[in-house]
Amino acid sequence: MVASATTKPGESHSAKMKWHLGSHVRRKGLWFRLRKVLLCVLGLYIAIPFLVRLCPGIQAKLIFLNFVRVPFFIDLKKPQEQGLNHTCNYYLQPEEDVTIGVWHTIPAAWWKNAQGKDQMWYEDALASSHPIILYLHGNAGTRGGDHRVELYKVLSSLGYHVVTFDYRGWGDSIGTPSERGMTYDALHVFDWIKARSGDNPVYIWGHSLGTGVATNLVRRLCERETPPDALILESPFTNIREEAKSHPFSVVYRYFPGFDWFFLDPITSSGIKFANDENVKHISCPLLILHAEDDPVVPFQLGRKLYNIAAPSRSFRDFKVQFVPFHSDLGYRHKYIYKSPELPRILREFLGKSESERQH
Ligand SMILES: *[C@@H]1O[C@H](CO)[C@@H](O)[C@H](O)[C@H]1NC(C)=O
Repeated sequence: MVASATTKPGESHSAKMKWHLGSHVRRKGLWFRLRKVLLCVLGLYIAIPFLVRLCPGIQAKLIFLNFVRVPFFIDLKKPQEQGLNHTCNYYLQPEEDVTIGVWHTIPAAWWKNAQGKDQMWYEDALASSHPIILYLHGNAGTRGGDHRVELYKVLSSLGYHVVTFDYRGWGDSIGTPSERGMTYDALHVFDWIKARSGDNPVYIWGHSLGTGVATNLVRRLCERETPPDALILESPFTNIREEAKSHPFSVVYRYFPGFDWFFLDPITSSGIKFANDENVKHISCPLLILHAEDDPVVPFQLGRKLYNIAAPSRSFRDFKVQFVPFHSDLGYRHKYIYKSPELPRILREFLGKSESERQH
């Protein structure tokens, strides 16, 4: 008892001391750790450009983003699970060792007839007088992505066939992604459609990175004198360098010394161009550009700039070139233009009435 009585004050004193000491050590520890984290972040910030420069494949991966599968749990073999009960899934083989997954949605008015039908029935349907839209999707995700599916629904309700596919390396399509490969896959599907579509118009619709594939394809088609009936570019850029420079990913490095050398030259040296601005000078068919003013991924100015390059181009002298902006108040951003109640009218005025409407 006595001992404890005499030691108690001392104990509490030393406990207090310890506490003071402890908090001091802790605070120092915290600062030390914070400094360590900051140094690491700074180190990474400086290391990343060198890494990208040394491994240009990183930039290619970031552009294609084919490994990002959103939404993840979609069975691409079952488009009906995405609310597409008038869609058939099948596979084409553009080249040896390359297989691509295709979705073909028929005009919505026929959805009842389509129940339980096989690929042959769908292929034959391409010949019945309805226009066809070949849809080329952007990077990341698959042909089953939400905003894509919503657009197929809108277009099919307007009486169009929609044929879309995953480029090699995307979704369940087999092969290694490359700009050449994507363009080749698109060409293969276009020819496949043309072999079955008779006199029906075939339109090409590209979105985002898919606009780069679309102009590559249409330039090639014009050069071989088999142009499509129209080209529609939704949220296009001018070329991949300008797009990469304005992409939100680049914001933190925009003022990094040597940005172009570190981040843009590796893209070019990987052979990735997606030169919409060059391609449009060699394209001769009607061109419609759709772009939302509040697009955070491909800035509106790039779409407008592309229009300003295309409109005066001699290649379009016999064709209309139209630019349709969507006001930022509408909130369509990068992938929601399909929501526009104006879209049916815009398409009808630009493409003309679809064959089925003409018959009525
Ligand atoms: C099938 O799809 C069509 C077109 O989108 C729709 O109008 C219809 O209600 C759907 N039917 C069923 C049973 O879900």
